[in-house]
Amino acid sequence: MAIALSESLTGLGDTVPDDQLIITIDGPAGTGKSTVARMLARRLGLGFLDTGAMYRAATAIFLDSKLDREQVGEFVSTVIGADLHFDWSKDPPVILAWDDPYDARIRDQDVTATVSWVATLGELRSHMVRKQRIIAAQQPRLVTEGRDQGSIAFPDAFVKFYLDAEPGIRARRRAEQLRADGHAVDESVMLERILERDRVDSTRSDGPLICPEDAIVVDTSGMTVEQVVDHLEAAVRERVSAAGRADLPS
Ligand code: DC
Repeated sequence: MAIALSESLTGLGDTVPDDQLIITIDGPAGTGKSTVARMLARRLGLGFLDTGAMYRAATAIFLDSKLDREQVGEFVSTVIGADLHFDWSKDPPVILAWDDPYDARIRDQDVTATVSWVATLGELRSHMVRKQRIIAAQQPRLVTEGRDQGSIAFPDAFVKFYLDAEPGIRARRRAEQLRADGHAVDESVMLERILERDRVDSTRSDGPLICPEDAIVVDTSGMTVEQVVDHLEAAVRERVSAAGRADLPS
């Protein structure tokens, strides 16, 4: 079922459901966040929110609308009108704009090259955070992954993780991912792009990439995806049990 994220939904956070369980995973590109978040969500029977896909969809909308970078107000209005939402019946959930699937378009090279700029726009970020909270209100058991999920979107999340890895390793992982999708990739160019994206992501004034103080930091450099997911799952189960909750599948 596709859940429309109406702008008219208000009162978010006024009533927190008893079984709410928000787990945030933040960190730079190439740490395996998306894969890890999706696997963790599956293991724990939770929903999965890829917030990078939201910024990527907004970027595709920007590029396809032929607006220029000075027309930020019009751009944000267009994104609001597109009513970004996810089709949760798919695994991973598919992002929709104007009810059309955007999952293929958001991985295109022009989107990847422009998304860092889009993610610096404060007005757009406020809209995205609002959407993310609406999603969490509708789907209160969620692993959400991005750059600002533990710091801005869900400061009261039950468990926060921050994944990191050495830049060279992150570049190699990204290159392998792209090669698997049939693209030719130069790893040194990939490293430069990753370092540039880190710089833009962590220096923007709105929602910069930071490690929340209360996050569990995991350096994934020498770890397989399975090892990372095992580690995160164990940490969540420990917290759930310490809190006296018994609401996870075994
Ligand atoms: O994780 P990703 O590569 O799909 O993210 C795409 C871009 O969106 C990246 O430049 C960082 C940005 N982003 C963000 O600023 N805040 C988020 N919560 C998620 C992604």
